[in-house]
Amino acid sequence: MTNKILGISGSLRKASLNTAALRAAKGLCPANMEIHISSIADVPLYNGDLDEGSGPAPVQALRQQVSDADGLLIATPEYNFSVPGVLKNAIDWASRPAFKSVLAGKPVAVIGVSPSGVGTARAQHELRDVLFGTMSEVFPHPEVLIGNASSRFDAEGQLTDEATRDFLTKMLARYGDWLRARAMTA
Ligand code: FNR
Repeated sequence: MTNKILGISGSLRKASLNTAALRAAKGLCPANMEIHISSIADVPLYNGDLDEGSGPAPVQALRQQVSDADGLLIATPEYNFSVPGVLKNAIDWASRPAFKSVLAGKPVAVIGVSPSGVGTARAQHELRDVLFGTMSEVFPHPEVLIGNASSRFDAEGQLTDEATRDFLTKMLARYGDWLRARAMTA
C-alpha cells in the first residue's frame, strides 16, 4: 500500500529552504510513499465569522487535502523562536470543528530548516504542542532539525549535503513504518 503524504511548508517564499526540504523529501521518500506538496498561500486569516458551513474555498481545499492524506509532513521555519503565523493560521482553520476536525487522529511528521545553528528546535517544539491541541498524532522520532542551511543547500535550493540527505531518507522510512504499524492496529 502506498502512503499518500501531504507536504505543507510554513514559508510562502519562492526560495524557501523549508519548501526546498519538502522537495528533497519527495525524492528521498521510500517507494511506497508519495508526497504531494500543497501551498497555504491562499488561506485567509482565521475569522470565526467566515468559519460557517464549509468555509472559504481555500480552507475547503486545505481540509479536503488533509482529509484525503494518510499523513502530513510539515516543514516549519522558525520565526521569533516560534511557528510562523501563516502556518499556525492554516492549522487553526484545519483544526475546526474542534475535536472532530480533519486533523483529529491524523498522523503528522515535522521537520524544519533554518540558516541558524538552532535548526528550528524552538519552532518545532511549539509546533508539536499546537498539533497536540488539534488531536493529531505527532510522529515522535527521529526529529529532523536542519541548521546551518547555507552549507546544506545549493543556490538552486537542492539539498546537497549527503549526511542530511541520508538522515532525511532514514526519517522518511521510519515515518512510513510508523504509519503502517498504526494502520495495522487501528
Ligand atoms: C527569522 N529567522 C529566524 N531563524 C531562527 O533560527 N530563529 C528565529 O527565531 C528566527 N526568527 C525570524 C523571524 C522572522 C520574522 C523572519 C522573517 C526570519 C530566519 C529564518 O530562519 C530564515 O529566514 C529562513 O530562511 C526562513 O525559512 P524559509 O523561508 O527559507 O523556508
